[in-house]
Amino acid sequence: MRVAVTGGGGFLGSHLCEALLRRGDSVVCLDNFSTGDPANIAHLLSDPSFEFQPADVSLSVEVTGRVDAVAHLASPASPPDYLRQPLETLAVGSRGTENALRLALRHDARFILASTSEIYGDPLVHPQEEAYWGNVNSIGPRSVYDEAKRYAEAVSAAYRRTHGLSVGIARIFNTYGPRMRPHDGRVVSSFITQALTGEPLTIYGDGGQTRSFCFVDDLIRGLVALLDSSEMGPFNLGNPVERTVTELAEIVLAMTGSPSEVKHHPLPVDDPVRRRPVITRARDVLGWEPEIDITEGLRRTVAYFGARPDRLGTSAAAIRGGQSETVPLAAVKTTATAQQAIPSPSAAVTGVASATSPGLPASAG
Ligand SMILES: NC(=O)c1ccc[n+]([C@@H]2O[C@H](COP(=O)([O-])OP(=O)(O)OC[C@H]3O[C@@H](n4cnc5c(N)ncnc54)[C@H](O)[C@@H]3O)[C@@H](O)[C@H]2O)c1
Repeated sequence: MRVAVTGGGGFLGSHLCEALLRRGDSVVCLDNFSTGDPANIAHLLSDPSFEFQPADVSLSVEVTGRVDAVAHLASPASPPDYLRQPLETLAVGSRGTENALRLALRHDARFILASTSEIYGDPLVHPQEEAYWGNVNSIGPRSVYDEAKRYAEAVSAAYRRTHGLSVGIARIFNTYGPRMRPHDGRVVSSFITQALTGEPLTIYGDGGQTRSFCFVDDLIRGLVALLDSSEMGPFNLGNPVERTVTELAEIVLAMTGSPSEVKHHPLPVDDPVRRRPVITRARDVLGWEPEIDITEGLRRTVAYFGARPDRLGTSAAAIRGGQSETVPLAAVKTTATAQQAIPSPSAAVTGVASATSPGLPASAG
């Protein structure tokens, strides 16, 4: 199978590319590195079954040759990223999704959408099952992400109804693991970075808000199961074990043996208080459920972060200053296909942006 993966240079996308290559698929990875990192796919460039194509998928999604499936993951995903890129986030959720759907339609390919638990907004129903329609503020700061994803689901469902396209929708709940950026603003990466550098762990609100944390390998198995099926869903993909943010902080502190303290900050606007997926549908229809518990998942993630001490110091300072890591578009070469050349990680690092977003949420998209 030849799969086009938009956002393939990001955290989840790069793991998906790897998983597909491992089982013998060919992969065309499209990315503009607005929030991804060239280092995520550097090790894949020598694989003849892997092609990297620089592209802003909000403008167009063109792939030459056969395409059997399209996995549409391109979108800023962490709150600091989408709050810093509000219009880009709306564009990639709307026009980007339509461009990816049109690519699938042209090739009569399977299409899967990386949607999100943010579809449920600040949920009034707990835990969340797919039949729940959500509680979203359509004009709040987070709406650029939540509503873009809701539109992405709507247009995907409409392509299925109107054109008979084989569409699958994954509502992804907080996922963590190696290749998260140390200061991407998500709670797991922030806590690990802060613990490893001795900085205070930042908790927004009283820390009683809950999240369900899914390890990346589990999540990718779910996405591949969805890709291989002809089901639309939507499917909640996440770990149903609910943890408070305070509990997560305690686990990270114990695991790293860090002397860091915990510091509380005001809860950001519209930050959801409780999150837990009901995964019965994914279990019954896709035969999927998470297997890796939080201790093992965090152990692997801490090991990944610990092996990159050079990035931790600046990242801890950036978290303290309320900054989010980014690779500006100007740092991305736009003609990489010939020799699979992509910007080096060091080029990306020199381009770290300095936009500040005070009061960033301790949660992920
Ligand atoms: N990680 C999570 O916990 C989580 C939760 C819910 C949903 N999701 C969804 O999964 C997908 C991947 O998330 P992630 O965590 O890997 O985030 P990420 O930021 O690491 O990856 C997103 C990738 O999309 C690329 N991208 C963004 N806009 C683009 C554009 N216009 N054209 C081309 N590429 C573009 C980025 O450069 C990046 O490589 C996103 O759609 C996100 O909404 C993730």
